[in-house]
Formats: sequence, structure tokens, C-alpha cells
Amino acid sequence: MDKQEIGIAVIGAGRAGMIHARNYARGIAGARLIAVVDPVGSVAKSAAEELHLSKFYTDYREAIADSEVDAIVVVTPTKYHCEIVCAAARAGKHIFCEKPMAMTPDECQQMINVTQQHGVQLQLGFMRRFDRNFMEAKAAIDAGVIGDVVLVKALTHGPSIPKEWMYDISISGGPLAEVSSHDIDAVRWFSGADFAEVYALAGNYRCPDAKDKYPDYYDTVTLSGRMTNGTQCIVEGAVSVGYGYDSRVEILGTDGILFVGDLQEGSARYASREQKQLITKTVNSWQTLFIKAYEEEDTAFIASIRSGSPVKASGNDGLEVVKVVNAGNLSITEKRVVNLNEG
Ligand SMILES: NC(=O)c1ccc[n+]([C@@H]2O[C@H](COP(=O)([O-])OP(=O)(O)OC[C@H]3O[C@@H](n4cnc5c(N)ncnc54)[C@H](O)[C@@H]3O)[C@@H](O)[C@H]2O)c1
Repeated sequence: MDKQEIGIAVIGAGRAGMIHARNYARGIAGARLIAVVDPVGSVAKSAAEELHLSKFYTDYREAIADSEVDAIVVVTPTKYHCEIVCAAARAGKHIFCEKPMAMTPDECQQMINVTQQHGVQLQLGFMRRFDRNFMEAKAAIDAGVIGDVVLVKALTHGPSIPKEWMYDISISGGPLAEVSSHDIDAVRWFSGADFAEVYALAGNYRCPDAKDKYPDYYDTVTLSGRMTNGTQCIVEGAVSVGYGYDSRVEILGTDGILFVGDLQEGSARYASREQKQLITKTVNSWQTLFIKAYEEEDTAFIASIRSGSPVKASGNDGLEVVKVVNAGNLSITEKRVVNLNEG
């Protein structure tokens, strides 16, 4: 695409939507933020005011119909991703779609097909692939520093209480989708293989408010799996932990081990006469931990639109993660090992 500036509309002005919108408003090379969309008029309006935009919409179709918009960033609750992505692709708009890609593998496949048919880019929001530390780990694995990868353990624990739509597994996919998508993607990336089978356990320990209305909701999950190349994995997810934002990966190889991530925010630690114990700050949010990675993924999206080169986190990556999320949720419900090739 040789237009001087690629016009962007951000669809969904919530937590993650505003991260992307602020990145584009601050300046991503070769892009210009045109509009934000949110069905809640006051949310769309205040986002537009904050970002000094003259345009905001309450219906995504208006953004897609806007001739100044060349690409959209989809950051709505997951159940709307498929509909919005397909409509945008049919209108010839390039698409960045947040994880999890959609509710089902069928929806993901539909999104892949329609973007291919219409020749538009589709990048998924796996920003850890753009994080400096994750990239260093991947480069070390590819260079053979730890030998062959045999076990990947990836965990994410989030501090905050989920939004109500997240309690409803039928529209959010549960914490496996909301939180663990990133870890599932990291396991695939680091092991270089797809999931073959999974077994998952889950329970609700910290969200009593959800228990009556959403009895299926779980706030803590462990998923163990075997990859198609034989690598083993453990994915652990939790929400509402309160103590901080905890994202860590441990990769065991035949010749070594690799660690990524730390609960400790920086290197400063304190001790006092009274307390006589070392105190250190924990990382408090994904929004700060991965701030640079979000910027890098937005920059890469624009570069891929311009050059037509493959994106680093593709529709197929999104599809494979959704397959694992659904297999994991099935394993929790049916209390059994689920093979990814089951019909
Ligand atoms: N990559 C990441 O690290 C990351 C982090 C958080 C969320 N996410 C993903 O981003 C998506 C949104 O999550 P969130 O935490 O920002 O949620 P949120 O609830 O904070 O925001 C969602 C926003 O979308 C709006 N919305 C709802 N339906 C819409 C529609 N049809 N069209 C346009 N806007 C609509 C809502 O009014 C709300 O303002 C989810 O898919 C989530 O998994 C990704």
C-alpha cells in the first residue's frame, strides 16, 4: 500500500482498545488514527476527546464505511470479533484483531478465509511475540542454546476482578481464552509445534460473586499438554490474584533451561529498622509490563500492510490457540484428556 498514511479505526474503546488507540494517537510511523468506535456513546465520545479525534462512531459499520479508514483494530469482547473482522475484510480493510481470535475454530477459519479472499492483512494480538525478553528467549532457543525443547511451563496470573462479560464462558471462553491465550501461544512459539492433546483442571476460589449466576466460571486453571513434536507443556492461568501481574515462562531443554519474566518490577528492594525484611515492588499490570510490546506490534502491523510481508502473529496462530482453549474447556467439563483432532 503506497498511501502516505494508513487510516486507522479502533473498534472497542475499553482497556485494551485504548492502549492501541493511544499508541496510534501518539504516533505509529506511517499511520493516522481516524476514529474510535464504541456502542456506549459516552465511552466513544470521551475516547475521541482524549485522543483529539473529530470522529467517533457507535456502530463499527460506520467506521468500515468511512473512506478515510484503511485498517481496523478489533478490540471488542471476543464474541463480536468474527462478525467485525469478516465485514471489514469484505470492505477491503486490513485487520488487527485482539486475542482470543474468536469463539470457535470454525469462526477463526471463516476469518482466515475471508481475509485471504479479499487480500487484506490479518494480524493477531499476541504482543508477547514483540516483547524484548520473549524475543530473546526465542532467539536463544532457535540458536540451540538449551538444546532441544522438552518442557515449556507458562503462567499468567492477573490481579483484577474480571468484567462481568468475562464471567460468562459462552461469550468470553473463560480465563483459558482471556488470560491463557498468551501462554498457549508462547508454548506453540517456543516449542515450534501445535498442541496434540490437553488435560485441564479448574476451579473458582476467589470470585464468589460469580458463583450463583455463572456456576461454570473458574478463576484458576492448569492445562497440561503434549505437542505434536513430543514437547510437554503446562499452562497455568489465574485471575483476581490481587498481588500483582505475574507472567513467567520456564523452558527446559536437553542442554539447559531458560527463564522469562519476573514478578519483581525492578531491581530496587528496601529494608527498614522496623520491618527487618526486604520489600520490593511487584509488576502491577499487563498494561505497563508489555507497554513497549503493544507499540511494537502496532508498528509491525503498519509495516506489514505497507510491504505486504507476512505478519508475525497470524490468523493461523489465532486459530490454533482457540482450538486449545476450546479443548481445555471441554477437558474441564468432561474431566478427561482431549485430543486436538477430535471431531
Ligand atoms: N493483548 C492483550 O494483552 C489483551 C489485554 C486485554 C484484553 N484483550 C482482548 O481485547 C478484547 C477487549 O478486552 P478489554 O479488556 O479491552 O474489554 P473491555 O470490556 O474493557 O472493553 C471492550 C469495549 O468494547 C466495547 N464494545 C462492545 N461491543 C462492541 C461492538 N460490537 N463494537 C464496538 N465496541 C464494542 C465495549 O463497550 C467496551 O468499551 C478482548 O478480546 C480481550 O481478550 C487483549
